[in-house]
This record gives sequence, C-alpha cells and structure tokens, in this order.
Amino acid sequence: MNVTTPILRVGLAGLGTVGASVWQRLASQKDLLRQRTGTEIRVDQVAERRAEHARKCGVPEKLLVPDWRGLTDNPELDVIVELIGGTTVAFELISTALQKGKHVITANKALLAERGAELFQLATKHQRHLLFEASVGGGIPIIRALREGLVANRIVSIHGIINGTCNYILTRMNEAGLEFGDALAEAKREGYAEADDRLDVDGHDTAHKAAVLAALAYGFWVPPDKLYTEGLRGLEKQDICYARKLGYGLKLLAIIKADPDGAAEVRVHPTLIPQSHVLASVSGVFNAVLVRGDVVGDTLYYGRGAGGDPTASAVLSDLAQIASHFPQEQKARNVGHEALHSRLKTMDEIVSRYYLRLMVEDKPGVLADVARVLASRQIGISSVIQPEAHAGETTPLVLMLHDAPESQFQAAVQEIAKIGAVKAPPVGLRVEDFN
Ligand code: HSE
Repeated sequence: MNVTTPILRVGLAGLGTVGASVWQRLASQKDLLRQRTGTEIRVDQVAERRAEHARKCGVPEKLLVPDWRGLTDNPELDVIVELIGGTTVAFELISTALQKGKHVITANKALLAERGAELFQLATKHQRHLLFEASVGGGIPIIRALREGLVANRIVSIHGIINGTCNYILTRMNEAGLEFGDALAEAKREGYAEADDRLDVDGHDTAHKAAVLAALAYGFWVPPDKLYTEGLRGLEKQDICYARKLGYGLKLLAIIKADPDGAAEVRVHPTLIPQSHVLASVSGVFNAVLVRGDVVGDTLYYGRGAGGDPTASAVLSDLAQIASHFPQEQKARNVGHEALHSRLKTMDEIVSRYYLRLMVEDKPGVLADVARVLASRQIGISSVIQPEAHAGETTPLVLMLHDAPESQFQAAVQEIAKIGAVKAPPVGLRVEDFN
C-alpha cells in the first residue's frame, strides 16, 4: 500500500444485523473503497456490549469497548457510525460525537424524525457531517439522489413504498388472498416482521422515513404528531379484491407534495394506485420511491429497503463520501436550512379521490340515499360495484369517487354511516392517480 494513503478512522457503535454487515463489508470492499476514495477506511474501535457476539462477528478483542463513550472519548476517531437504534442513548451518542468534532453516520430514522432539527443544527455549529443514507430505503441511494442528483430541481412530489414489512403483507394479501392477520403471521415466520410489529404495521416507520424525505425536499421537519399516519391494521382482503376489480392495487404510501404557493403535505396511509402504474408492481419486501422534480420530471428508485448488506451498502457510501475529501474538510451541508416550504397542510385541506365500501341492506333507495349525501357535498361518483344480492340481505356497495376535499369526504362518510340501511362502519381509502 502507498504509504501516503490517508486513513479515515472509524468508530462503529452497535453490531446488530446492520453493524455486523458494515464490519464485514468494510473488510471485503476495503481495496475497492481505497481505490475509489483515495483513503483507507479503517474501523479502529467497536462499541458492543456482547463480547461473545463481537468475537463471532470476527471483531478482534483489542478493538472492542463495551460502551459508546469509549468511541466519543477516543480523540483519534474521525467518524462515528451509530447503529444502536432507539432515540435516547443514540441522541446522546450523536450529539456528544458532534460536539467532540467527529463526523457521524446514522441509519436512525426514528431519531432523525424526532430530533433531526436539533441534531443538524449541532452538526452545522460544529461543521461536521451528519450523514444518513441508510435511514430511508435501505440500500437505495435515495438520499444522495435528492441531495445531489436532483439538487437543481424543486421537488414537486415524492411517493414512496418505504416499508418492506408492510409491502410484503400487502403483496401476500393480494396474491395469496390472505387476511391481514395471516399475512402478518407469515411475515413474522419468514423473518420480515419484528415480534413487536407496531412500528412497521401501524405506519410509524414509514412516517419516520417520510419526515426525513420531506426535510430533504422542503427544508423543514414535520413535527411527528402533525404527520398523518395510518397503517395496515384493520385492512380487509375484500377491499384489495374490489380495488383490483376496479383496476387498482393497494400500497402503503408515503406521500410528500408541495403546492407552488408554499404549502406542503406529508402523509402516510394505505392508498389505491392504478395497477398500470410502475409502483403497483413493486412487490414483496422491495421498496421504491418515485420523485417528481420540476426540471427532470419523474424518476424512480427501486431496491431492497432493509437487511444487513443493503443497509451496509448505504452506510459505506456515507463513509466513502467523507473519505473522498479526507483529510481536507468539505463544507458540511446539513439539512433543514433551505425552508423552501414551511407551511404544512392539515389533513382537512388535502384533496384526493376516494374508494368507499359500505355494507348495506339490499333494498330500494339505498344507493340513491348515499348518492344524495355525496352530491350535497359536491362529491362525484366515478363508478359503483355491487355484487348480486337478494332482497333484505346485506351486501357490499363499493363506490369510486372523484376528487374531493378530505373534510368533505369525512363529513359525508359520517352522514352516510347514519343511514339506516348502512349496517357497518364505512371503509374509506384514498386513491392516488399521480396526475
Ligand atoms: N421493517 C423495516 C422495513 C426495516 O421492512 O422496511 C427498515 O426500516
């Protein structure tokens, strides 16, 4: 090796699935990364409590410290890679590392969504990089695409399938006709869902990632309690079947959009999308993000959104970015200073098309009553399905509706629920046509 090759000294915090892959992949890609960055990227210290596990991962004992403070206290380290997760200790670790003049790389979307504004301010104050390619879309380089590839674009919209667990469940409900509970149980058996499924299934993980993408696109952090989040729980396979009959697939989407007047919307919910749209064909644990820029038009990013190696690929790309300019300092360009759009729309202000399923008694005048409520709120019907039923029986009545303000749709649903012939709470799903 050329004796003048600079060495970027790395402290690795956490040897979970991703941490272990980062350790292994830094070794297997070492020469490649040195050729491409002109710097040797070397892990000098690893913080991991489980000494036996670290040994099994091949980490030499002399590199091991039991506590993350061993990394932040080490003046030799240039970069800390935070892969411990959670939002308390990880916050302390990252803020201490930045204060001590170290660059930080993290995959921690929950922490960024909760305290990103503070952390990026701190990074800017100390002129350190806080990089987070692995936080959204696993191995898909969506962060770099937004920050670099599309830097000349105003972001018109982002539509993301960014939770592999949910996409697997929806794929199995659609393809194998499973009910939600069975698809979730299968995802757990296959290792695609955690024992505690709430973060994924209730949409929070998608919301954390949506907050990160929105901060990149529009320069402000959406407060977590203002980010509308609806997950998969309660979905029924019959709605996926009716959607298919109508020419739609169902995906859990993160939707991020802005009006030219500066109002942004950021929301996460199950969404009907045309079967002919490219996002409808993203199946299983794969992720995909569609970004529309005002100069470039539509661009699509697809790949594995989770797992050790794909996520390690993203962490290594952040290390390579720092290594490429090392030891010269590249100006830290952190998130949250552009404030291109700073007003977040409430859900009541959004406009969408809707799918509405009612369980109704099959008797004359029911459809007319439902149509009357919708018409009174200027909501048009674009199609209707009602399976053949016998008089007096309860039958699904499925309506596709034209664009309507959310407030009008919700008010109409409440009114429809009170019609005597409507026998169960109405099921409403939003529809995205990508116009
Ligand atoms: N369970 C998550 C997913 C992991 O499947 O996308 C990555 O956040």
